[in-house]
Amino acid sequence: MPLKLTANAARIPYYPTAGGYSLPDGVALLASNECPDPPLPEVVEAAARALVATNRYPDPSYRPLREALGEQTGVDPSLIAVGNGSCEVLLALGEALLEPGTELVYAWPSFSVYPHLEAASGATAVRVPLDADHRHDLDAIADAITERTRLVIVCNPNNPTSTGVSLDAIRAFLARVPEDVVVLLDEAYIEFAEQYRPEDSIPLLEEHPQIVLLRTFSKIYGLAGLRVGYGLCSTPELVAAVERVRQPFVVNVAAEAAAVEALRHPGEIAARVAQARESRTQIATGLGKLGIVPAASEANFCWFDLPVPGGDDAGEREQQVIAALREEGIVIRSGGALGRPGAVRVTYGTPADNDRLLAALGRVLA
Ligand SMILES: Cc1ncc(COP(=O)(O)O)c(C=O)c1O
Repeated sequence: MPLKLTANAARIPYYPTAGGYSLPDGVALLASNECPDPPLPEVVEAAARALVATNRYPDPSYRPLREALGEQTGVDPSLIAVGNGSCEVLLALGEALLEPGTELVYAWPSFSVYPHLEAASGATAVRVPLDADHRHDLDAIADAITERTRLVIVCNPNNPTSTGVSLDAIRAFLARVPEDVVVLLDEAYIEFAEQYRPEDSIPLLEEHPQIVLLRTFSKIYGLAGLRVGYGLCSTPELVAAVERVRQPFVVNVAAEAAAVEALRHPGEIAARVAQARESRTQIATGLGKLGIVPAASEANFCWFDLPVPGGDDAGEREQQVIAALREEGIVIRSGGALGRPGAVRVTYGTPADNDRLLAALGRVLA
């Protein structure tokens, strides 16, 4: 008997759970833009201490985490929505804002979760191609806004292309966005950016009445496995919109305790950013020796087209290279699945992982 799904659920692309989570030790996991370093011992201890009280539900206001984030960012805690990963805040916002007859605008290729928003809501998505340098074309995005647009997403730096846009360009873009359109600036990788620092975009919250800066503990803070993210919002109404559509206990007590502790170690964060920059140079130099020029990365990963020998199909070539690297114990992400057949996305690993990747890629392409 076929299962009768709602139209919304039937539209959502369903991917069986990805392989790669039960691999033998020693595999270089360079596919998910994670931090190569484990959490700090203090962070692990804070999470462990929280476990002794797990007979109780979490405080559903997440006050300690929102206050710690308020202290770090200068944003009033009443304007911060925390979530089970930043994805959960993103999906909740989409659920609160989008419905059939409304429009959602975002660049493409961009984060693979954005298409869920139109599928889950029945809204119409307007995808605006990136420019020739794989960057957001903010003028074209502003041009695509209509009276039906409820939400615009700008991913900066952009996943999967790693490229960034400047704060001046974002300000000029926001000046063209009507006040009743919500703009979600997805800053999951903002700590790695070159064009501006995380603190620099905070004033945007006061300059545009409906903006959400989406951030996460999954990348630079190295807590992807615990699932904590947050949105810094222009108004309490935006926070309330997110809270309205979801269950009360989205962040568990161990995750909250770890996130609060992680904010107490800015020196370690700065060291990780410095390490990612070194990896950026190491990988770009190595790729250059293979005749590959990656997009200008402002993230903890890079994006490049694979060289395709004359006559070969780019998408097939990509799959062959990914499979061959997998044989060598290295997992990277397919560009075809992210909107550009023939391209791949590689997360920076440890310096040793990066060397391994470059050596294996050299063999595979030879
Ligand atoms: C651009 C972007 N936004 C948001 C996320 C979601 O991260 P999380 O739900 O782990 O906070 C990711 C994860 O890869 C991402 O690449």
